[in-house]
Amino acid sequence: MSSARVVSAKAHANIALAKYWGKADAVENLPAVPSLSLTLAALCTRTRVELDASLAADELELDGAKTVGRPLERIVALLDRVRAADAPRARVSSSNDFPTAAGLASSASGFAALAVAANAAYGAGLGAAALSSLARRSSASAARSLFGGFVALPADASEAERVLDGADFPLTMLIAVTRSGPKEIDSTAGMKHTLATSPYYPAWVAHAPSLYAEVRRAVLARDLELLGAAVEQSALMMHASMFAARPALVYFTPATLAAVETVRALRKSGTLAFYTMDAGPHVKVLTAPGDAPAVERALADTPGVLRVLASGAGPDAALEGAA
Ligand code: PMV
Repeated sequence: MSSARVVSAKAHANIALAKYWGKADAVENLPAVPSLSLTLAALCTRTRVELDASLAADELELDGAKTVGRPLERIVALLDRVRAADAPRARVSSSNDFPTAAGLASSASGFAALAVAANAAYGAGLGAAALSSLARRSSASAARSLFGGFVALPADASEAERVLDGADFPLTMLIAVTRSGPKEIDSTAGMKHTLATSPYYPAWVAHAPSLYAEVRRAVLARDLELLGAAVEQSALMMHASMFAARPALVYFTPATLAAVETVRALRKSGTLAFYTMDAGPHVKVLTAPGDAPAVERALADTPGVLRVLASGAGPDAALEGAA
């Protein structure tokens, strides 16, 4: 098969509405629980793969800075899955149009964009499902960023699948950024620690499927109130499993709880808004597009919130053509 020498792809970050936390198989990187996410238009990663026969080893540039160590190893592992042993090495450069320093879901969009670009550059001929599976091996949430709109990754599944187009249930996600530094404990290490030490981990794994089913039903019914209740319980149940680890894994800061309180106060006054938190201190708030400006203002006025990003549903990961 022919291969292009320079290829560029873009993919969008996603935020889980029903959370994934824990691996059924650490080697294959298969999730222990099903998850369902919303792909976000406003958070995009662009990744360029340039094949160069003169390179002795792959090279990586992240947001303009040459990067080695673990991030480069993870890139090389993905490239090795799509190319022949004697294929040329690659110069990979990746940049986010959102602040990576804040530790926002950049691995999901990053590995989804890399899967699409590497597949085209090496002429591997993989379709969307196989690309989703390829991205999952690097980061399970990346499997979901192959697709736009509402996307599910069933437990033990190899690839993600679209549940509903974003346009069929228009929602706005507001991201209250509460810290500018990167997160302290990455999700793989956090999951391993939770599984090994938290007595609540089995309860999380037992209950997550019913919350996932509720989230899925609510998305298909386009019912924000039902969706929001399940979204909040999924996030808090995931965090409860981390709180019960030894030592406890606490991603929340005072600003996290202040933003949660803002959302609860908005709801008391009749605005449908619902929060979710991942492996970091930021608070993501789901609301109807018409209510988004008021929710955004309330979050921006919350002590400890540094900035608020707003996004609707994003599209599939895609090639951008030769760069
Ligand atoms: O795909 P990973 O290894 O970055 O894990 C993602 C974990 C959460 O963001 C906390 C939840 C999720 O489903 O995205």
